[in-house]
Amino acid sequence: MSQSAKQQTVWITGASSGIGFSLTKQYLDAGWRVFASARSQGELTALIETHHNLAFVPFDVAQSQQVEKVRELLSEFTDHLDCAVLNAGTCEYLDMTEDHPDWNMMDRVMSVNFFGLVNSVDVCLPLLKKAPRGHLVGVSSQAVQAAFPQAEAYGASKAAARYFLSSLRVDLKPFNIDVTCLLPGFVDTPLTQKNTFPMPFLMSSDEAAKRMFRALASRPYEFAFPKRLSTMLWAGRHFPKWWLGMLAPKENTKD
Ligand SMILES: NC(=O)c1ccc[n+]([C@@H]2O[C@H](COP(=O)([O-])OP(=O)(O)OC[C@H]3O[C@@H](n4cnc5c(N)ncnc54)[C@H](OP(=O)(O)O)[C@@H]3O)[C@@H](O)[C@H]2O)c1
Repeated sequence: MSQSAKQQTVWITGASSGIGFSLTKQYLDAGWRVFASARSQGELTALIETHHNLAFVPFDVAQSQQVEKVRELLSEFTDHLDCAVLNAGTCEYLDMTEDHPDWNMMDRVMSVNFFGLVNSVDVCLPLLKKAPRGHLVGVSSQAVQAAFPQAEAYGASKAAARYFLSSLRVDLKPFNIDVTCLLPGFVDTPLTQKNTFPMPFLMSSDEAAKRMFRALASRPYEFAFPKRLSTMLWAGRHFPKWWLGMLAPKENTKD
C-alpha cells in the first residue's frame, strides 16, 4: 500500500457491506487512502485486489480487547488519520407480544452500536489528533427523531451514539477535530432487507454514500437525510398522539 505526500487517509468501520462498502468505494474514487474494517472482508475482497490504496483491518467493534491491536495495525499503515467514519452497526427488533421478550438484545445491540462506537473512538483518537484537522464521523439514524415500533434496542443505541458524538464535539474542538453525526433514513442494505414493514423514501446504499460523502466535505455537526423523511419524523415528534395513532396497533379488547 503506497501513499503520495498529500493523499488523505480515512478509516471506515462496517465496510464489508451496505453503506460502509459504498462509502469505501466513494473515498477510493475520490483518491483517498482507505483502511476498511469489519469482522470479515465480505464484499471488500474483490475491491482489495484491484485497489492498492485499500487495506483491510479486521476489527470486531464489540471487543474492547482488540482496540490496541487494531490501533497498532492502523499505525503500521499511517502516522495519522484525516477522517474516521465509524459506521459498523447492527439491528434487532424486540417482540412485545411475548411475555418474556429477548431483553438480552439490549446488551447485544448496545455492544455494537454504542460501545462499539466508543471502542472505535478509542482506536482512532490518537491518530486523528495527529492530523492537521481531523474529522470524526459517527453513524446514528433517523430512527432517533421519533419513536419506531420494536426499536427499543436499536433506537436507544443510536440515540446514545448521537449524544456521545455531540459531547465529543465539544471536547475535541481544542484538538482541532470536527465531529459529525450522520442520520440516514432507510437505505437498502442487508440490515434493512430483513424488514417486513414499509420503508418510506428507501434509497440504494450507493446513493446514500454519495450524499454522505458530499455532505461530509463541509463537516456539518449533523446530517440527516433524506429531508422528506426528516419532515415526516419532525411531525411525529411534535404531534406524538397522531404518530402513536398511526404506528401503534389498536388496544386489545377483553371480552
Ligand atoms: N440501512 C439503513 O436503512 C440504515 C439507516 C440508518 C442507519 N444505518 C446505520 O448504518 C450503518 C451501516 O448499516 P448498513 O445498513 O450498511 O448495514 P449492513 O450492510 O448490515 O452493514 C453493517 C456493517 O457493520 C459491520 N458489523 C456488524 N457488526 C460488527 C461488529 N461487531 N464489529 C465490526 N463490524 C461489525 C458488518 O460487517 P461484519 O458483519 O463483517 O462484521 C457490516 O460491514 C449501521 O450503523 C446502521 O445502524 C442504516
